Amino acid sequence: MFWDKDNLKRLIEERLSDFQIILVSNREPYMHIYKGGEVETIIPASGMAIALDSLMQTCGGTWVAAGSGEADREACTDGDSLIVPPQAPRYKLRRLWLTRQEENDYYYGFSNEALWPLCHVAYTRPRFDSGQWETYKSVNRKFAEVVLSEVADPRRTIVFIQDYHFALLPRMLKEAEPNLVVSQFWHIPWPNYEIFRICPWGPEILDGLLGNDLLGFHLQYHCNNFFDTVDRTLEARVDLERFSIFRQERETRVRPFPISIDFDRFEAWARAPQTQRRLQELRHSLSLGGLKVGLGVDRLDYTKGIPERLEALDIFFRKYPRYQQRFTFIQLGPQSRLHIPSYRQLNALVDSLLEEINSQYGQGRWKPVIMLKGHYSQEEVVAFYQLADLIVINSLHDGMNLVAKEYVASRVQGEGALLLSPFTGAARELTGAYTVNPYNPEEIADTIFLALENEAEQKASRLAAMRAWVQEHNIFQWSAHFLQALIHLPKED
Ligand code: F6P
Repeated sequence: MFWDKDNLKRLIEERLSDFQIILVSNREPYMHIYKGGEVETIIPASGMAIALDSLMQTCGGTWVAAGSGEADREACTDGDSLIVPPQAPRYKLRRLWLTRQEENDYYYGFSNEALWPLCHVAYTRPRFDSGQWETYKSVNRKFAEVVLSEVADPRRTIVFIQDYHFALLPRMLKEAEPNLVVSQFWHIPWPNYEIFRICPWGPEILDGLLGNDLLGFHLQYHCNNFFDTVDRTLEARVDLERFSIFRQERETRVRPFPISIDFDRFEAWARAPQTQRRLQELRHSLSLGGLKVGLGVDRLDYTKGIPERLEALDIFFRKYPRYQQRFTFIQLGPQSRLHIPSYRQLNALVDSLLEEINSQYGQGRWKPVIMLKGHYSQEEVVAFYQLADLIVINSLHDGMNLVAKEYVASRVQGEGALLLSPFTGAARELTGAYTVNPYNPEEIADTIFLALENEAEQKASRLAAMRAWVQEHNIFQWSAHFLQALIHLPKED
């Protein structure tokens, strides 16, 4: 069945109309900042938040998230809440406020210095700190209290938790209200047991997650790693026929749901006249006239392989000198998690590699690599997608990577090449991509050359197949599959 906004809405009206939906994530879908003395709404650089906003706009309900913008308090219209999106209000955004210490220890600390590197096999060593772990627990408790305060009738409420910031929240919610339907989607990979076992609080994390009625990962492979990890760590029965885990007689279903994007929204942005105008402005302001353009779009994160990409570009310009002054690579890299030393080091490394390449090959107006670290709205990013003859996504490890799908959806003219790491979830679906091993910069350089040289028809047919896939396997299908799995949960009493 083909899923879109309308039939997802029908599914919700027919099967879930008397349910309240509460979505929980750390990152909020809309953030408020001050610009020129005014309060401005921005959408954070998070594929997850953009994708789930489309779901919430369709089904309504409440989204609980940490307030992270300097003007967030001022922008609330009803205590700690406001109705979003600003232009066409559809659902309630309930903000929760973290102290500086909570943000440091729970978000920067345990979530992003311990769990993030633990789950991404990118050879960055996780750091486990018992103080941060204590704060992670207390912030999970704080979110539980806010979620519970939003519940009208526990028998008619679905809580849908996002990500690794909340491994303990499901159990806390279930203990407080056993009749709540509790579900979670883990947006990053789940590692194998040998990797996970180094976490000093592994059993508590697994027990917390088994408070869910339904737990989703992107890939069957991540589900299998999770089954194996639980089997070797906890007293629990792993039932591989039902794809379920039973702990103290309660069942947690574990299923793959590869996340996707709102294809139509990206297509519409790509076709919008202002995108075409922006495209022309960019060509002009970045001096791109007559050049082939490559693109990278990533938060500045060590899992994304950005230094490896710059190394590949260095090889590319050396090995294929005829592309000097004929090809420019634009890297959009919003800075991220800068309180964490490994992110600061990455930032400095990227700057110095960039400087080396540009000083070695740059001539006149032509720059081999243009790095843009500012914040761009999603519509502006689509103008960059439109501009790019090819995009390089060479993540060292990535749960899904929605940029790959966004690029494919935005290439409405039917041209363009996607270079994709096999260590992303997206590589399982986007089989028309040119595969690049992120640990082999020479291969990336050669594949950039290959993609530039390949016949246009060949690239168009690869892209067409991927566009058809993403159009069908969109965020509404993802949401429908997740909700259908929830509808078919055995009822508790
Ligand atoms: O997909 C993983 C994820 O952590 C999302 O939860 C998050 O929105 C995104 O990456 C960006 O990270 P952050 O919210 O830490 O800026």
